[in-house]
Amino acid sequence: MKIIANFKMNKTPFETKEYLMNIVPKSKDFNQEIILCLPYTSIAIGKFMTEGTSIKIGAQNLCEEEEGHSTGEISGRMLKDAGVSYVLVGHSERRSKFKENSKALNKKIKSALKNGLNVILCVGETLAERNTLKTAQVLKDEIEEALKGLYENELENITIAYEPIWAIGSGKTLAVKEIDMAAGIIRKVITNDFSPSAGENISIVYGGSVNSKNVGQISKAKKINGLLIGGACLDESSFLQILSTTNH
Ligand code: PGA
Repeated sequence: MKIIANFKMNKTPFETKEYLMNIVPKSKDFNQEIILCLPYTSIAIGKFMTEGTSIKIGAQNLCEEEEGHSTGEISGRMLKDAGVSYVLVGHSERRSKFKENSKALNKKIKSALKNGLNVILCVGETLAERNTLKTAQVLKDEIEEALKGLYENELENITIAYEPIWAIGSGKTLAVKEIDMAAGIIRKVITNDFSPSAGENISIVYGGSVNSKNVGQISKAKKINGLLIGGACLDESSFLQILSTTNH
């Protein structure tokens, strides 16, 4: 199982160090693949402190360009060289607050893959879309636009994070049945666009208000391969609780 922590814009490098002093020594007790998506400024300390452990370091965004005139941006090549192995692409906060469109997301994914990074592509519907039964269409469109032009073998390096936008940071979660239904839709899209084995093998995680109390229930979903956790990963004891509940 993959457990991905999204720190969002939280923790300074010093705070990240303090956090990792509590997490790293215990990480060997867990079998999951733990991925910490840190703010850019915490990547160096994160990489240093997790050296020799199975914890992987992720970033939360990358620039679609390789280098040059993009003040304030960070490229895939820079992330790779900094020791990053995963990068979130298309988180709903990037799509809505920073107006990242599907064309840019497609370029970001291609740049990440070219630089040897694993991509965590975030997709999910709004509440209005859900209420008007558009979830399947939204997932299909978001996935197809983002993965346009990719080869089937590149899917090995892609994880799709299903995050209903209305469930992010809201305390609202989906029933296990609904999570499996959405994961089923995603697998079908991949099957139709690539192949049945690609649909079966694509890695899917669920995210949206997962916490130490509901994680036992949510992780019963059978069609997902892990979880993406925001708010509840920031507190060490809550994150450790999530790790021990999902440690099978
Ligand atoms: P949340 O965030 O767990 O705080 O809902 C998840 C995410 O946005 O990745």
